[in-house]
Amino acid sequence: MTYDVAVIGAGPGGYVAAIRAAQLGLKTVCIEKGKTLGGTCLNVGCIPSKALLQSSEQYEWFANQAPDHGIASKGLTVDFKQMMDRKGEVVDNLVQGVAGLFKRNQITRIEGEAQLISPTQIKIGNEQIEAKNIILATGSEPIELPFMPFDEKVIISSTGALILPKIPKKMILIGAGVIGVELASVYRRLGTKVTIIEMLDRVCPGMDLAVSRALYKIFKKQGLIFHLSAQVTAAEVSKNKVTVTFTQKDESQTIEADVVLVGVGRRPYSKGLNLEKLDIALDSKGLVSVNGNFQTIHSNIYAIGDLIEGPMLAHRASEEGVAVAEIIAGKTPHVNYMAIPNVIYTHPEVASLGLTEEEAKELGIEILTGTYQFRGNARARCAGDLEGFVKVIGDKKTHRLLGMHIVGPHASEMIGEGVIAMEKRATLEDIGHASHAHPTLSEAIKEAALAAFDKPIHA
Ligand code: NAI
Repeated sequence: MTYDVAVIGAGPGGYVAAIRAAQLGLKTVCIEKGKTLGGTCLNVGCIPSKALLQSSEQYEWFANQAPDHGIASKGLTVDFKQMMDRKGEVVDNLVQGVAGLFKRNQITRIEGEAQLISPTQIKIGNEQIEAKNIILATGSEPIELPFMPFDEKVIISSTGALILPKIPKKMILIGAGVIGVELASVYRRLGTKVTIIEMLDRVCPGMDLAVSRALYKIFKKQGLIFHLSAQVTAAEVSKNKVTVTFTQKDESQTIEADVVLVGVGRRPYSKGLNLEKLDIALDSKGLVSVNGNFQTIHSNIYAIGDLIEGPMLAHRASEEGVAVAEIIAGKTPHVNYMAIPNVIYTHPEVASLGLTEEEAKELGIEILTGTYQFRGNARARCAGDLEGFVKVIGDKKTHRLLGMHIVGPHASEMIGEGVIAMEKRATLEDIGHASHAHPTLSEAIKEAALAAFDKPIHA
């Protein structure tokens, strides 16, 4: 059987590529080693973590804020098993949804590990298939620290953190990146004492400095304990406890916990694909190099998502999946990386787009910035959700939008306005002069844009 397209991996990069290829009339097969479709994002990443973030956030809201609204929250309890079961149902529902999409689009699904035999042949167990084009979309896996391998019980990755049998009393998180602060938030809200050890001197290091600083203050106030500029040196597991040793300012310290979650990044996963046999080299980080059309050294073998350079984000992989399917079908798509948002689902949420102030300065671009605090926003006040701000960055000469950074309620949804503005090469004036419904949180975006080139009204 010869296919037009074989997609290896059914995460948000691979499954979206397969659907788009099928929509464009290409005979498509998708090979996935997992029992379910959806990859890390749907099974052990974005989706289950967001389900738990939602549940734990609602619990915290009832515990802390409901009384302000005149809502009694006496006798509030957490049924952790029910919370986990609900998360499981959300995941099951979505992965079945992807299976349904495959059926509807007549995509052949093969369960098993794919191994490349030649640029057009793939072996899956005893089966062998032929494909004119191959899309590698095998994603990434959590990075392990050499002196503390995952046992997924006491030393856990994000995967283990999503299936803990009970709420731990004490948890140590290594890394104050996205996984660190999201999962720390879940367990802190449920009553766990959470300590985060971060190598660098700030939390969420990739974010705009103003965002990192605000988050540090907010998370500390919420009860997270941080050790920044700290180097973890050892971990010792004994009787379901773990003792972590780290050095900070040349001083060695130890902390004990029930679990330690290592969230120090992810690395590309291409094990078993047999890439070396086809001379597809990996760089020192394990990334596959591709050209502007996502082609490897074989023009019919493409790679997308976490397997290639760029931020490891589900929606970025999906954009690339669509683009590759369209390239194979003879179209000329374009992925605008400046318009790919980055979100952290803590409370308040964080959403970031385009350049940070530091990046713009490093590039030697003269900029204008405007910031507006949610405490001046009427809707935020109605919600009792006043923490955070919107910061916009524009080119000083053209006033074109270069970056948008939001810390605040529903930031993940609000950044959509910035994405469209960036796609359409809007100016700060375009945003500042556009009508925004009142009262809405999005008025803070308008006010931040006004603050950059003129004056906000409510300040
Ligand atoms: P990350 O790159 O966001 O953060 C890793 C953190 O660990 C950094 O702050 C880094 O300085 C720190 N670190 C590295 N080595 C360390 C060490 N030895 N000791 C202490 N700290 C150390 O990676 P993370 O959080 O593991 O996430 C992995 C990927 O998954 C990211 O690329 C992220 O974009 C993606 N992801 C995205 C989510 C979202 O979009 N909401 C949610 C979760 C993950």
